[in-house]
Formats: sequence, C-alpha cells, structure tokens
Amino acid sequence: MSLTVTLIEGDGIGPEVVAATREVLAATGVVIRWDVQLAGAAAVEAHGTPCPDELISSVQRNRIALKGPVGTPIGRGFRSVNVTLRKALDLYACLRPVKNIQGITTRFSGVDLVIVRENTEGLYSGLEHMVVPGVAESLKIVSERASTRIAEFAFRFARANARQSVTVVHKANIMKLSDGLFLDCCRRVGQRYPEISSQEVIVDACAMQLVRFPERFDVLVMDNLYGDILSDLCAGLVGGLGVVPGANLGDECALFEAVHGSAPDIAGKGVANPTALILSAALMLEYLGERAAAVRVREAVDHVFAKTTVRTGDLGGNSTTDEFTRAVVLAL
Ligand code: NAI
Repeated sequence: MSLTVTLIEGDGIGPEVVAATREVLAATGVVIRWDVQLAGAAAVEAHGTPCPDELISSVQRNRIALKGPVGTPIGRGFRSVNVTLRKALDLYACLRPVKNIQGITTRFSGVDLVIVRENTEGLYSGLEHMVVPGVAESLKIVSERASTRIAEFAFRFARANARQSVTVVHKANIMKLSDGLFLDCCRRVGQRYPEISSQEVIVDACAMQLVRFPERFDVLVMDNLYGDILSDLCAGLVGGLGVVPGANLGDECALFEAVHGSAPDIAGKGVANPTALILSAALMLEYLGERAAAVRVREAVDHVFAKTTVRTGDLGGNSTTDEFTRAVVLAL
C-alpha cells in the first residue's frame, strides 16, 4: 500500500537531515509518496509567508507530515511556523521519548522517560501586546479543556505503553489559577488510572531532579513552555539534540519532527546528525501501522552506535551526515 505524507524540508540543516531520513525510509521498503511543501525561508521567498495555506491544507489532506526544523526570527517578524502549524492543525500533544542509546556515552544511564507537552496554549498562545511604551504583557492561557485532554493523553499513553508513573510538572505555588487549573485537571484524570502512579513536582525542582536522578522519571506531563525547556534539558541527558525524536499529535493529524532547530551554525556543511529525524520517522512508521519497519529502523540506528565508530561531530566523531546515513542503511 502506498502512503502519502506531507514533507517539509525546512531551514538550515533541515534539507540535509530530511534527505538522510528519506534514504533510510526508502531502505525499509515501505512505499511513501511525498507531498513536498515549503515552509520557512523558502516559503517566504515563494509565497511571502513562512507558513502558506497550501502547507496547512496538505497536512489536513494527508493527515500526516514529516518536518525538518524551521527557523524563527527573534523579536519582530513572522509568527513561528511551528506554533502556527500546531495551532492550525490542533496538534495538541507533543511527545518526546528520551532514552539512552548504547554506544553514546553520557553522564547518565538508565534514562527512559517520555515528555508529554501541551502544544496549543500556555505562554505560547501568541497573545502579547505593549501595555504602554516600556511595558509588554504576554498572556498565559490555560483552559480546562486543553489541560484535561493533555492529561488524558499522558495517562492513556502510560497505560498503552505499560509505563508505571506520570509526573505532573507545574508551578501552581506561584501561578495559583493557571497552573492550579492545569494541576487540578491532571489530578482528576489521574484518578481514572489507578494502576498508574501519579506524582506532582514544581518545574524548578523537576529540572534539578532531572539532572540528578533522571532514571527515576517515567512519563512527564507539562504545559507548553516547561515542555519546551525541559525537552532540551532531557535531550542533553542522552547525547544532545541530535538524537532525540518527537511527534506532534492531534485527533485528526500528526506531524513528526526532531526536537532540534535549524542549527544555522552547521547548516550546509554536511555534518548534521540525522538520528533525531530518523527516529522521528520511526515514530511515524509506528503511527502508520508499519511497526516492523519502525523496529528495524530503531535497531539499525542502535547497531550503528553500539557496533561501529561512525559518529557525527556533535557526538565527538568526524563522520558526515552521508556517512552516518549510509551506515544506517547498511545496518537495515
Ligand atoms: P538548534 O537546535 O538549532 O541548535 C542548538 C545547537 O545544537 C547548535 O549548536 C546546533 O549546531 C546543535 N544541533 C542541533 N541539531 C543538531 C543536529 N541534528 N546535529 C548536530 N548538531 C545539532 O537551536 P537554536 O540555535 O536555538 O535555534 C536555531 C533556529 O531553529 C531558531 O530560529 C529556532 O527558532 C529554530 N527552532 C526550530 C525548531 C523546529 O522547527 N521544531 C525547534 C527549535 C528551534
């Protein structure tokens, strides 16, 4: 059966890691027809906007997308493509599995946690204004509906994947109404999953505990901003941004992308680590029901790290993106 997937190459290292991932996917034998769409700088050049309507309707039509990173200018300019896509397609759950890979030496072992991040509101609602010159206000939106559905997603995920615990990350001691509502919703949902142990931790304490005892965490659920920050922190526990995959999931559509950004410092040099997007593609295969192919991709990546010395620069090696990709394809 042939599947059609929207493909967004993105900016910076995006086209490089996307090309690598396409090669690996082709080697699995799963036939995918790519509906290539522009986003980011290339879309601004062609359509005058970084997130054209054609892109959004392509994902709505295909219901599934694989995306390279897209750069977002700091300060004034266009709204983030990522925030726009997540809101327009209601991709409310961001799933980021973080696990040690054998052969990648880090300070920690036994890390096997999953971050579930609310993707549509919080401080990323895009509601900002200048109150008076010199005073800016950014609104944090927390709704019962969005908090309940992300909590439901996290506990359902824990149950479906035989996970033991869900940790709710919050700052309800300070933001008593907004984070208080998020916490209440998570507590209510957690009561319906008696077999899953439910814990609560304040976000700053969570950051500290994650860099001391990361192996104690299982599934973590949190709002948009905390999820953004702690995802990068957790990537650092297992080898950095080059190796952590991600998925943005809604009830209608799904978009798979790495945690990392467009890495302008190494773009165009052919040295980016494609592992994160390759593993995101494995999550996509699983979502598409191609479980055997997903397992093969993961095993091939594991094989390269465990049994060879092929490593890109971010992991201390000097292999190119192409050399790493060839090693994964060979292992497949
Ligand atoms: P970044 O993730 O692009 O880079 C941070 C550091 O990690 C850099 O030193 C980079 O070289 C390295 N790095 C990242 N991915 C790598 C890979 N696959 N292989 C080897 N090294 C890698 O974060 P930064 O610099 O803060 O953001 C750059 C741009 O990307 C910004 O415009 C930001 O808005 C955007 N961004 C986009 C995301 C997305 O599209 N999902 C996510 C995060 C940032």
